[in-house]
Amino acid sequence: MDRAPGRMNATIRGPDSADLASLTGFFAGLSLRTRVQRFFAPITPTSAALRRLSGGAGNADVLIAIQDGAIIGHAMAADRAVPGGDTMTDFGVVVTDAWQGQGVGSALVRALITRAQARGVTSVTMDVLPSNHRVLAMIASHWTAGRTDRSADCVTVRVQLPRHQQERLMQPPASNPAAATEISLTFASRRMPATQNAAPGAGSTTPLTRPS
Ligand SMILES: CC(C)(COP(=O)(O)OP(=O)(O)OC[C@H]1O[C@@H](n2cnc3c(N)ncnc32)[C@H](O)[C@@H]1OP(=O)(O)O)[C@@H](O)C(=O)NCCC(=O)NCCS
Repeated sequence: MDRAPGRMNATIRGPDSADLASLTGFFAGLSLRTRVQRFFAPITPTSAALRRLSGGAGNADVLIAIQDGAIIGHAMAADRAVPGGDTMTDFGVVVTDAWQGQGVGSALVRALITRAQARGVTSVTMDVLPSNHRVLAMIASHWTAGRTDRSADCVTVRVQLPRHQQERLMQPPASNPAAATEISLTFASRRMPATQNAAPGAGSTTPLTRPS
């Protein structure tokens, strides 16, 4: 892929059944390090896991980033009810090695946050390996109001989300993630901000920075 002087045009959307083979290839193509950082073990997802990762489990909002017909990023928010009637969601995000550091991960997270707010989710958690210093630094600089719980195996970051009543009304049902927002992203270079053109009905996106 020639990215140096050129532009990157990626699309973010929910996966459908036709994407299963590409998702299989995407996860199989991740480096060992990236797989360990995402799944906490050097696994290649089984077919059951792939169904979950493609949104088949029902309680997960899944997005994929596509560039030149290939999946280059995957993001998933798994919702669960918490006492008091609130809903929290757990984010898992991974970008294929060749595209890391190009803004894909933050675009996926922004889209996940917007959609979680629209579902009425009140907080986000993300589990990170203690050795994943890059992501911990990234979270520390962006999610300044986050709360961190540390154990020997895992750092869990929790962030409160503000409520977005209006977006909640516009959001497609959570049970139909494939009918998801489609967002086109254009990146001119690594450090330039992404230009996001939301498709009709897509709603706005929320910056990764300081969601609370
Ligand atoms: C974590 C991951 C999803 C991020 O995606 P990415 O596309 O590489 O990251 P981005 O290019 O969008 O960078 C995200 C932000 O982190 C910042 N960042 C990047 N590298 C950084 C570093 N070493 N230290 C601090 N911040 C860093 C970027 O500047 C960017 O901030 P900005 O939006 O203000 O520019 C990706 O690197 C990945 O797949 N890693 C392996 C799996 C993993 O660790 N997942 C997280 C646990 S579930």
